[in-house]
Amino acid sequence: MTVAVVVAAGSGVRLGLGVPKALVPVGGRSMLDLALDGVLAAEVDRAVVTAPVAELERVRGLVRARADADRVAVVAGGATRQESVAIALDEVPDDEVVLVHDAARPLTPSALFDLVRAAVVTTGAGVVPALAPADTVKEVDGSAVVATLDRSRLAAVQTPQGFPAGALRAAYASAGTGHTDDASVFAAAGGAVSTVPGDPDAFKITTAWDLRRAEQLLARPVATRTGIGIDVHAVDASRPLRLGGLEWPGEPGLAGHSDADVVCHAIADALLSAGGLGDLGARFGTDRPEEAGRPGVDFVTRTVALLAEAGLAPVSVAVQVVGNRPRIGRRRDEIVALLTAAVGAPVAVAGTTTDGLGLTGRGEGVAAVATALVGPRLP
Ligand code: CTP
Ligand code: MG
Repeated sequence: MTVAVVVAAGSGVRLGLGVPKALVPVGGRSMLDLALDGVLAAEVDRAVVTAPVAELERVRGLVRARADADRVAVVAGGATRQESVAIALDEVPDDEVVLVHDAARPLTPSALFDLVRAAVVTTGAGVVPALAPADTVKEVDGSAVVATLDRSRLAAVQTPQGFPAGALRAAYASAGTGHTDDASVFAAAGGAVSTVPGDPDAFKITTAWDLRRAEQLLARPVATRTGIGIDVHAVDASRPLRLGGLEWPGEPGLAGHSDADVVCHAIADALLSAGGLGDLGARFGTDRPEEAGRPGVDFVTRTVALLAEAGLAPVSVAVQVVGNRPRIGRRRDEIVALLTAAVGAPVAVAGTTTDGLGLTGRGEGVAAVATALVGPRLP
């Protein structure tokens, strides 16, 4: 069995928001909630969270709102990180692997927990994730530089730090004060500690700059825009019906210069709208003689090409046909396949009637309404 101790009882003085750090939101969710995502997605059976005494109920509420709440216990932490870990270890049986983790490292990937856990099982001793320092590190006395340390012999360590639980508890029971991580407590009691490669995403949020970096890492990478398009054509039973790029033998057709495919025209208009590229009439002059009889799906593919020229690409499209006939449902899969290929992104297709009301309800015409989402074209 593997238990994670997630320490979240600090006050976040250096972040300076006047709120315990673990409750500070990053990308709309608290650091603790985000940290628990990584912890509980790993091969971890249970988690014990240390909460600030004054925020015990708030933290319990936050945990209760999670789908995996039954795997998490919350206890009140102590005055220092070291005390908080010691309190949490009372909830962890001796024969388990314990992974001690800072809630202040909310973006730690679950793979790092699995890596540390596996190394504890293999070595039977302490394991810490470590990164080589990028900077040259000096020993100083106030502002005076005393020595330049040999960087090749230095490592910056992160959490989760993993140990056999019984050995870590014994180390904590005999430890002096002033330890800032678990490996130093373990080593002070004579325990061996080795490293595994750390992960840059496991960085600790200490200052406002760290918080901004975490926000940026969680931010949606692309800006998208929505667009809307509507098209209506009158019924002309003397023409064949073309709708959604398909032929519909036996169904009454629609009047128009082009093939009067309202579905394709609405989609093309929605894509142009989302791209800020005007509309179908302005772009292609659908009533020009040379456009007569042109398949509606061509307008969709030409619109996608225009978007590409503008550095844009469709993200998704939804279209709804409004009319008594044809029944969309029976050929939905064919339309979806054809239009998804033309748009190059998922297309949802629906149909509806209007309870006998209006031009579509009286069977005088067929309408289509489309929305489109467009974003930057990725290389
Ligand atoms: N921690 C804890 N109990 C304490 C102090 C710290 O559980 N009495 C936890 C923090 O919640 C954090 C981790 O230990 O997840 C690392 O501590 P640190 O980054 O120093 O957080 P804070 O103590 O909250 O920040 P500060 O030192 O700026 O006040
Ligand atoms: Mg602290």
